[in-house]
Formats: sequence, C-alpha cells, structure tokens
Amino acid sequence: MKTHKIAVIAGDGIGPEVIGEGVKVLRKVAELDGSFQFEFTHFPWGCEYYLKNGRMMPEDGIETLKQFDAVFLGAVGYPGVPDHISLWDLLLIIRKKFDQYINLRPVKLLKGAPCPLAGVKREEIDMLFVRENSEGEYAGSGAWLYRDQPNEVVIQNGVFSRHGCERVIRYAFELARAQKKTLTSISKGNALNYSMVFWDQIFREVAADYPDVKTYSYLVDAAAMFMVKDPKRFQIVVTSNLFGDILTDLGAAISGGMGLAAGANLNPERRFPSMFEPIHGSAPDIAGKGLANPLATVWSASQMLEFFGEQKWADRLLTIIEEMLVEKTALTPDLGGTATTSEVGDRVVEKLAE
Ligand code: NAD
Ligand code: IPM
Ligand code: MN
Repeated sequence: MKTHKIAVIAGDGIGPEVIGEGVKVLRKVAELDGSFQFEFTHFPWGCEYYLKNGRMMPEDGIETLKQFDAVFLGAVGYPGVPDHISLWDLLLIIRKKFDQYINLRPVKLLKGAPCPLAGVKREEIDMLFVRENSEGEYAGSGAWLYRDQPNEVVIQNGVFSRHGCERVIRYAFELARAQKKTLTSISKGNALNYSMVFWDQIFREVAADYPDVKTYSYLVDAAAMFMVKDPKRFQIVVTSNLFGDILTDLGAAISGGMGLAAGANLNPERRFPSMFEPIHGSAPDIAGKGLANPLATVWSASQMLEFFGEQKWADRLLTIIEEMLVEKTALTPDLGGTATTSEVGDRVVEKLAE
C-alpha cells in the first residue's frame, strides 16, 4: 500500500482546532479508498514552543521535515511572540528552504457561499491565484541602522530575480494553457520602477512562448478595484509575493470568507516537501472556542490529495464542502451557522462515507 508521510504542524490559536478536522478527514479518505494510507507525525512547534525553548522549532527542524512527503500546517503567530519572529522562523522559513515557490490560492465562489458583492453571479468568481512565494517583497533583505537614534534608518529590499520571476510566470502560463483559461499578471510598474518593470518585461517575454494563452496585465490598485467591481475579468492570475498575499485575503472576502480560503505551497519539482494550509491566521479573537471554520483546511487537504494524484478524492472533498454550504445544517458562525469546528469536520466525514 502507498503511504504518504505527512508532517503536521498544527501551530497556534485556531491552528490545532482546524488541523484536527483536516487530519480526521484525510484519515477517512484513506480508509475509504483502501489503496493508500497517511502516516501523520505531529510536531508541537509554534509560539508555545517558542516561549519554552526560545525558538519556533528545533535547530534541525528543516532537516526533520525533509523526510516527509508533505507538511500540513494550521496557523502560526500569537500575541506574546513578535509576529516577524514567529512567522519568519517557522512558516516563511519552510516556504523558502523547501523552495515552495508556487503558492496556489483558489478564489472560487462555491454554491451556497455568502458573497458581499451586489449584482455578481456565482460563476463570475472563479479565479486561481498563482502567488510568487520565494522572493520579491518577502526576500528578507534589509537592514536596521542606528536603532533608536535620531538618524535611524530601515531598509527593506524587494528582490526579483530573473529565475524567480520567470519560473512562477511560466508555471502560471502552463496552468492557463492546460485549463484553457486567460492569464492576468498583476504588478505595479508605474511606481516600482525596477522590480515591477522587470516583472512586466518577463511576463511579456514568457508570453511569447504561449501565443495560445490570452493575457491581461493590470496595475495592482486597479486589480483590487476590479476584483470587487467586475471579478469575472480574472481567471488564472499571477502576481508577486506581497500583492498575492493581500489580494487573496480580498479574494477570500468575496468568496465566502477566511474560513473557506485554502492555499498550497508547492515545490513543483518535488525535490522538497510541499506544504498545505488554510490561508487564514491563528485568529486569536476566536481561538479555543470551537468557533473556527475548518473548511478552508479541508479545502487545503483537497489540494494535498490533488498533489498526490488522488484527483477523485480531491474533487469529492470540494463537492462535499459545496453541498454543506447549500444544506446549511453544519456550518460555523462565520457562515451563519451554529455548529462547532468539530461538528463541521464530523459532517464532512459522514458525507464521505455516504
Ligand atoms: P486571521 O486570519 O487570523 O484573522 C482575521 C479574521 O478572520 C479574524 O476576525 C478571525 O476570527 C477570522 N478568521 C480567520 N480564520 C477563520 C476561520 N477559520 N474561521 C472563522 N473565522 C476566521 O488574521 P490576523 O488576525 O491578522 O492574524 C492573527 C495572527 O495570525 C497573527 O499572528 C498573524 O501574523 C498570523 N497569521 C498567520 C498565518 C499563517 O500561519 N498562515 C496567516 C495569516 C496571519
Ligand atoms: C499568508 C500569511 C503569511 C504571508 C504571513 C503570516 C507571513 O499572511 O500565508 O497569507 O504573508 O504569506
Ligand atoms: Mn496572508
């Protein structure tokens, strides 16, 4: 029997609550399929670990994770540990060390999901964001000089390499070609006169290899406006690390909320494990109360199944999420329901078995 070895980093706040449901669902899928199994190994890394050990994960944490086929992550970050430490020393370092340079984030309005936009039909919100996930504004390059002095200076550099831009743009073109969809590049070449001019240039260069793919190019400010006013313009979207981060929270807002937004951090060459996670954070405001919506995590489990070639089960999970949104009998409060986190997970498992 095929075994998928999964490192589980539940993390902080609602992380453990939602990841518990994701694991429950994946176990059920494997049990029903019978031809593969999951071997889950839990790592208690995160902010609590930091407060005890002075670091977010052990020194050999990355080495340890290398032995796995995938990482399943809840959320990282909690009041008491500065966010730039908790995120850089766990989530961001995994994305970087494992060269997970593709961040796939669907923005798709499922049947039954709430949408705050007036006059927009459900089918009009069906995008797939391909977010650059290894460099750009998140390169971590900079300096803090003359700290606390009157002449204090901070520098935060954006780093856009030809290799880095080209591979993510090419990946997006391949997706658009395979799915027969349009591809939109989102950048900001008018103000960011080096990085984004370069990005736009590479987008045009790569486009020459894909004459069959219809392309669009938007400035990020206009793109944010069109996502709200006319979302049907966007199908496959490729953008930089920071723009992708911001626009996919906006994407979540127009497609059912943070409780439904999933993401896959992929190393497409499979030289390193890929990582699957809901895109929301640790939500300290609702943590520990059973209020967290686990469906984003279930959707990211679906992305994991797709990555492992289990397309049938990936599709099944998405269908189940959609059916549950329509039925409205087992939803958390963010979606207008009264169910707890684990009741939603139980319902997914129940429907799998039907
Ligand atoms: P957040 O995504 O945690 O929360 C934003 C809002 O969305 C909150 O009101 C929260 O209650 C709600 N929400 C989020 N997920 C939900 C869910 N599954 N069900 C119901 N409601 C949900 O963002 P934030 O408050 O800006 O950040 C909190 C912490 O999480 C910070 O430390 C931040 O750095 C961290 N963070 C981590 C990740 C990650 O690990 N991938 C992502 C984003 C933020
Ligand atoms: C996300 C998160 C992270 C990001 C943070 C927590 C570093 O917001 O995955 O969207 O900005 O990538
Ligand atoms: Mn984000």
